[in-house]
Amino acid sequence: MKFFIDTANLDQIKEAQALGILDGVTTNPSLMAKEGITGQDNIINHYKAICEIVDGDVSAEVISTDYDGIIKEGEALAALHSQIVVKVPMIKEGVKAIKYFSDKGIRTNCTLIFSAGQALLAAKAGATYVSPFIGRLDDISTDGLNLIAEIRLIFDNYAFETEILAASVRHTMHVIDCAKIGADVMTGPLSSIEGLLKHPLTDIGLEKFLADYKKGNA
Ligand code: E4P
Repeated sequence: MKFFIDTANLDQIKEAQALGILDGVTTNPSLMAKEGITGQDNIINHYKAICEIVDGDVSAEVISTDYDGIIKEGEALAALHSQIVVKVPMIKEGVKAIKYFSDKGIRTNCTLIFSAGQALLAAKAGATYVSPFIGRLDDISTDGLNLIAEIRLIFDNYAFETEILAASVRHTMHVIDCAKIGADVMTGPLSSIEGLLKHPLTDIGLEKFLADYKKGNA
């Protein structure tokens, strides 16, 4: 399972990269705005800075919603760095654009996936990744993990190469559940990854080992 971090915060990206388990980064316009990154030049420079930190795929989202605009923006983003994956929304114009990018060898992440049908369509168009938003489904009392399971089944039935990128992961249990179901990738906050480290018995055990060592080597 690949681990992506879902943030535009450079310090958090550096911290995750330093852990040695980071496979990529996802961003979106909201995450950029949260870091105060505004204006096209600053946004472009920020993507470049992220690519310099991380060894792996960096999703950069288009703002356009018309076909020509998505193509123009996506081609410019893809040209920034070989690690850039163009993030395209699940709309009709987006599906057409994903097909175009796929034919051109430009990698894509189809975002805002909330149904198995949308994932199937994106895979048919040749998306590199589909991003089902499990947390946002959970927010409206709909089982986000069930969507991952449905997409896994469909992609396996037809051997689609499109990877399932479980997005809108909110906490550590989401990560475990996505791994059990077979999501190819998860993207979430640093806390969802660091939560995997923690167990009280590990802390208690380590404290005891160190105390016993001290006693024996006083
Ligand atoms: C995915 O690529 C999105 O950026 C993200 O996972 C959305 O997460 P949220 O629902 O916590 O905003």
